[in-house]
Amino acid sequence: MLRVGEVNPADPKAFDLLILGSPTHGGFPTSDMDGLRKALPALEGVNIAVLDTWTKTTIFGYAASRIARSLERKGRNLVAPPEGFLVLGIHGLQAVLREKLYGVYLYGAWAFPEGTARGDVDFHVILRGPLNDAEKSALSGLHATLAQEHPSLVGEGLDGYYILLDEAHGQTPPRHQLLEGAVDSSWALHRAHIRAGRCIVLYGPDPREVYLAASWAELATALQGELDYVEEHLADYPAY
Ligand SMILES: Cc1cc2nc3c(=O)[nH]c(=O)nc-3n(C[C@H](O)[C@H](O)[C@H](O)COP(=O)(O)O)c2cc1C
Repeated sequence: MLRVGEVNPADPKAFDLLILGSPTHGGFPTSDMDGLRKALPALEGVNIAVLDTWTKTTIFGYAASRIARSLERKGRNLVAPPEGFLVLGIHGLQAVLREKLYGVYLYGAWAFPEGTARGDVDFHVILRGPLNDAEKSALSGLHATLAQEHPSLVGEGLDGYYILLDEAHGQTPPRHQLLEGAVDSSWALHRAHIRAGRCIVLYGPDPREVYLAASWAELATALQGELDYVEEHLADYPAY
């Protein structure tokens, strides 16, 4: 992989496959990538694919489709449709929580292989201290904005637990700091999944430094709880 500035436009002539990637800036590729695209000679026999990264849905378009269109106009051999990758930051959480933010861990279906039904987005935000009222209302606003800007990503909902670090280190289901009275009732199962690698670390240390390993006794109790729940709700949700 080469940065745009490191590419001699004549070199790709010898490649079998050339993948051009650019962040989306104002709906366009960066000027460096645009310069490279224009400087590329005819690339007979070279297969080309194009990708971009982007952060928000806008009417201005995306870098990869623009690069692809101009290459196609020149008769270049695009082997796949342009592909975009959504980049999600945690800037919003950092802005609200500042040094209170210890870790952000995505688990559940999003941390399982492609093809797993996605449903809601399960995550833990680990906090160094309790939330004040201003932080609680800013976080609720953040969730609402995310759901509005990325409906397909948020899907059936954001199932995020805000948890104190001290409680995250323990075996007792931790209290939700944003929703009074709620606890992560599948705590042992979540810990086991997360520690087994079914976790995407968005921020913070290795999750094994945060979550305790679940004992077999805890897992057996938690799984029995899941089974009881399914049995109880089978009539309402026959898909179980
Ligand atoms: C000057 C500038 C303009 C941007 N314009 C857009 C845009 O029009 N659409 C978009 O989705 N993201 C836009 N972004 C976000 C970038 O696409 C995003 O930062 C990049 O894809 C990858 O993330 P990174 O900055 O973490 O590398 C812009 C970023 C910058 C710095």
